[in-house]
This record gives sequence, C-alpha cells and structure tokens, in this order.
Amino acid sequence: MQKFLNKKIALVTGGNRGIGFETSKQLAKMRGMHVILTSRNEKLGHEAIHNLKSKFDLDLSYYKMDVSSLESVRNVYDQVQSKFGRLDILINNAGVALDKGKHILNIPAENFIKTFQINYLGAFHTMRTFLPLMQKNGYGRVVNVSSSLGELECIVEPYNAAYILSKFSLNALTQTFASAVDSDLIKINALDPGYVKTAMGSSFANIEVEDSPKTILYLATLGKNGPTGSFYRDMKLIEWTKPDEHVICRRR
Ligand SMILES: NC(=O)c1ccc[n+]([C@@H]2O[C@H](COP(=O)([O-])OP(=O)(O)OC[C@H]3O[C@@H](n4cnc5c(N)ncnc54)[C@H](OP(=O)(O)O)[C@@H]3O)[C@@H](O)[C@H]2O)c1
Repeated sequence: MQKFLNKKIALVTGGNRGIGFETSKQLAKMRGMHVILTSRNEKLGHEAIHNLKSKFDLDLSYYKMDVSSLESVRNVYDQVQSKFGRLDILINNAGVALDKGKHILNIPAENFIKTFQINYLGAFHTMRTFLPLMQKNGYGRVVNVSSSLGELECIVEPYNAAYILSKFSLNALTQTFASAVDSDLIKINALDPGYVKTAMGSSFANIEVEDSPKTILYLATLGKNGPTGSFYRDMKLIEWTKPDEHVICRRR
C-alpha cells in the first residue's frame, strides 16, 4: 500500500478495448495514476495490459471483472481493498449495444435484459460496492460513460430502445447516487463521449478513439468545487433532457 500513497488509484471497466482502453492509457500516461484495468475477458485484458506496459511502461494492475455479475464486482472489490486500501476514481465505461437497428417489438427479451444488466446494473453494482470505500477515505470521483441518446428528448423512436433506455436509466442513476453522498468529497457525473470510432461506434464515427477520453479525464480529476450529479460533453455541461444542436438522436 505504501507504494501507492503518492498516486491516485483509478479503476476502469471494459478496459480491454475502445474508449476504456484509451482512457486507461491516458489516466496512467498523462495523469500519472495507477490504473486498475478490468475486463470480462481475461485473455484480452492481459493482452491490453501487456500492450500498455511494453509500449509505454505504465503503472497498471489487472483484474477480471464482469460488471453484470455482482459476485465478480465484489471479488474485485476484495482484491482492491486488500492491495490498495482505497479507490480514488471509478470509470464505469463497460457497455454494449445489442439492439442496433432493432425494433422494440422484435428485440429478443434476453437482449433487452442483458443490455440493462451491463449498461445500467453494471454501474449500480460498481457504485454500490466501491462508494463505501471512497466514503471511508473521504475522496472519490465516479465517471459514468453514458450517451446523449439517453437524453429524454432523444427517446422518440422504437429502434435501439434497449441501448437508449439503458443510458437514460444510467443518467438517472448518476443523479441518484450523487445525491446519496457528501458532494464536497465525492463527485459522480455522467458524460457523452460523442460518436467515437470503436467497435461500437464503427468506422463512420467522427471522433478518433485517442480523442475520446478528454471529458472522462476532466471529470475524473475534478477539484473540490467541481460539479456533481451533472452531464457533460466536450468538457461542457449539457442538459439531461434536451440534446443540443450538435446531437443527432437517430444516429445508430
Ligand atoms: N463509441 C461511441 O460512439 C459511443 C457513443 C456514446 C457512448 N459510448 C459508450 O462508451 C462506452 C465504451 O464504448 P466503446 O465505444 O469503447 O465500445 P466497445 O469498443 O464495444 O467496448 C466496450 C467495452 O465494454 C466491455 N464490456 C461489455 N460488456 C461487459 C461486461 N459485462 N463486463 C465488463 N466489460 C464489458 C467490452 O468487453 P469485451 O471485449 O469483452 O466485449 C469492451 O471492453 C460504452 O458504455 C458505450 O455505450 C460509446
């Protein structure tokens, strides 16, 4: 534990690829943090860690974590608690889009349920599990990677409903948890990363993955007077309900 006293400890979910991988890299490389990269697929997680350590010599740990399993989240909690004794930053990044282009009347119920288990309950499990440790240490920054598709006025069509409603619910969850902790010590915010070139975003997206963590890093390193229970894009405050003119709701 002594070794980590001078560094912030950040945990990233879904860190093996896409935005989660890039965020893990930048938190360690640009902000000098010790990053706990987690993933549900152990092999891909170890490959990601190997890649980051060998190319950039970064300070990282790895744990297997499936956010849809409370048991898996608790297992990682036990290891983090015993190895580090604290967690400063939690990035809830893991997510799936299992109903792209599918109509709410046709989507298999299992896909709807699975989407909520990962995109919504995943963040519930990690926040419920790790917030008491943050409270005990009197410091915490939680960043929920959401989407502008979850803004209320974007909920206007029967397609992609599992994804959209899971992000709408994640936004609500962000506000609920923010209201449950001491806002001077713990900041809990959500953000829309924009349309990012990843497996989920596709090659048609307009944001390079290297540029995607900017707002995540900003919210992960908020000062004492920073916001909580808020929604951000491009490091600017946005509304929970109303998309601004840059957002095209029907983009997936
Ligand atoms: N890309 C965009 O345009 C965009 C826009 C708005 C919001 N977002 C949000 O940004 C976040 C990251 O997306 P991305 O674009 O980087 O997508 P991605 O490349 O598909 O990566 C998603 C990550 O989530 C992980 N994951 C999925 N289910 C998991 C589970 N049960 N437990 C742990 N990890 C799990 C995946 O792991 P596996 O490799 O095991 O599948 C993968 O590492 C998501 O929450 C997404 O909704 C993305």
